[in-house]
Amino acid sequence: MILVTGGAGYIGTHTCTELLNSGYDVLVLDNYSNSSPLALDRVERITQKTLIRIEGDARDPDLLDQLFANYPIKAVIHFAGFKAVGESCQIPLAYYHNNFYSTLVLSQCMQKAGITKLVFSSSATVYGDPEVVPLTEAMPTNPANPYGRTKLMVEQMLQDLAASDALATDNPQPWGIALLRYFNPVGAHQSGLIGEDPSGIPNNLMPFITQVAVGKRDQLDVFGDDYDTPDGTGVRDYIHVVDLARGHVMALERLLDDQITGAEAINLGTGLGVSVLDMVNSFTNNNSVAVPYQIADRRAGDVASYYADPSKAFDMLGWSAEHTLSDMVTDSWRWQKNNPEGYAD
Ligand code: NAD
Ligand code: UD1
Repeated sequence: MILVTGGAGYIGTHTCTELLNSGYDVLVLDNYSNSSPLALDRVERITQKTLIRIEGDARDPDLLDQLFANYPIKAVIHFAGFKAVGESCQIPLAYYHNNFYSTLVLSQCMQKAGITKLVFSSSATVYGDPEVVPLTEAMPTNPANPYGRTKLMVEQMLQDLAASDALATDNPQPWGIALLRYFNPVGAHQSGLIGEDPSGIPNNLMPFITQVAVGKRDQLDVFGDDYDTPDGTGVRDYIHVVDLARGHVMALERLLDDQITGAEAINLGTGLGVSVLDMVNSFTNNNSVAVPYQIADRRAGDVASYYADPSKAFDMLGWSAEHTLSDMVTDSWRWQKNNPEGYAD
């Protein structure tokens, strides 16, 4: 059985779907602070399998102790956390508490229970403004905001934890930890039943585009067209969420069979740079739906261009992205069109 914290969220639901389809038993721990239990109903509908769900907080050591004592948990995937960059500047302590402290408590409870296989949701944001692209895992990290720093601090804590195995005298189970650095997750499950359901005004490009397309917002602001990129708009490495979810299952398998030990940072991206206008055009052309936009000022804190070198994921996990940009835009649109109000529908 796999414990999935934050399993009701955007990436969590897609990963639970892949886990159940791969034959794993799944226990979701979520406090629904940014999600709905209805999302898990949808996962069960897609897979025709049930998962165990516990409503609770990933920072609660008593609850974690209980879960580890009562269920045959072999590994943990830790998605629970906050993810909005702007908000992390306004309420940094809430971010350190939810992102950093939850991982500290979780790791302590895992250690106590003798469970040492962990997949952690890191982010390409740990690299900050890169000097060169594509980004390899060996490149310097320099996150530009509190959210990014919570992710980097967790990575460092987990590296220290894994390194402590070499000094242990009591021969414990060695740690195996995958620090998955996601690039820009977009898209939705092909069924149109699960997808990204942001509350309030979306911060990220794809949910903003789909909300304009469905008529919830008038137009998209393209944040800057004077970057040093082919068309002047920001370039990113968008990755289909189902590919990302598959990456988690593949990482988990390598951890469970001890092919990965220690703590390994691994990029999950396609390796392809896509501009804001490429994305808008692909969305419009593939879905035959208009996305009105205007060029606006640059957004503070944005970088011109970043994309992954995903070769380590291929070498270590045998993973590479399979979905194309047109899959991403058609699947995102199917989800939004079928669920204009997200799970509230
Ligand atoms: P999400 O907000 O959709 O999912 C997070 C889930 O965790 C939600 O269901 C929320 O209710 C739950 N949660 C939050 N705090 C909790 C707590 N203390 N205890 C229990 N449950 C809690 O976010 P997502 O997009 O699925 O992202 C998942 C993880 O991946 C996050 O850690 C995020 O920082 C990271 N990440 C996301 C992106 C992205 O663009 N979506 C990119 C890089 C990294
Ligand atoms: C943002 C976060 C990053 C996080 C990532 C994935 C910032 C500064 N960075 O990155 O830490 O890991 O999301 O969740 O917030 N754009 C528009 N109009 C919009 C929205 C976005 O033009 O309404 C542009 C942006 O300028 C950027 C691109 O679209 O060039 C992608 O933006 P976004 O989806 O927010 O992702 P990131 O900026 O890569």
